Amino acid sequence: MNRALKLRKHYFNGYYYILPEIGDRVPVIQDKSKLCYNMAFVMEMLRFRNPTPLSVFHKALVDCKLGPFNIPKNTQVVLHQAGILMNEQYWCEPNQFKPERFLDKHGQFLDTKHSAYIPFSCGRRICPGEQLAITDLFLSLVRFIQLTSSYRIEFYNEHVI
Ligand code: HEM
Repeated sequence: MNRALKLRKHYFNGYYYILPEIGDRVPVIQDKSKLCYNMAFVMEMLRFRNPTPLSVFHKALVDCKLGPFNIPKNTQVVLHQAGILMNEQYWCEPNQFKPERFLDKHGQFLDTKHSAYIPFSCGRRICPGEQLAITDLFLSLVRFIQLTSSYRIEFYNEHVI
């Protein structure tokens, strides 16, 4: 299946799950637990095309140790988020857009966060806006799908997703 067809499939899957649960009413935060596929779509979107692939650069203020590495004072430390989010050591077929990886076999959203799922970085400086961003993307996505359900959607550029 080419990429345009796959995108179309995800779009219609999105609508297929929304319709019986909330119809055309405006989505609310509580709908996150009902619309598991749409939540999984948002999570996969942030993994597959992470908006901050190199995270935010840090600098060691003192000599320290990171795992087996000695980090001298003033070293710039870069977390390559995309390298982890797209690594086949942690993800099955990382180059495939598969929201299903965030669902269990019953189609329920997986509550436990994969340790390699770091689109918002990790540790003490992890993005404090993580939950706000995910909720915002979820609400916007669901509303967009509802409002365009009667549109004829075409995807032209197979390389842009
Ligand atoms: C998709 C949306 C977003 C992504 C991918 C994202 C990603 C990130 C990343 C990678 C960092 C760096 C963490 C680090 O230094 O290790 C960060 C920091 C931060 N983010 Fe976000 N962010 C998003 C949305 C938001 C939102 C909606 C807010 C606030 C409403 C926010 C507030 C912040 C703040 C204040 C920091 C600095 C935290 C610190 O330095 O301790 N972000 N974000």
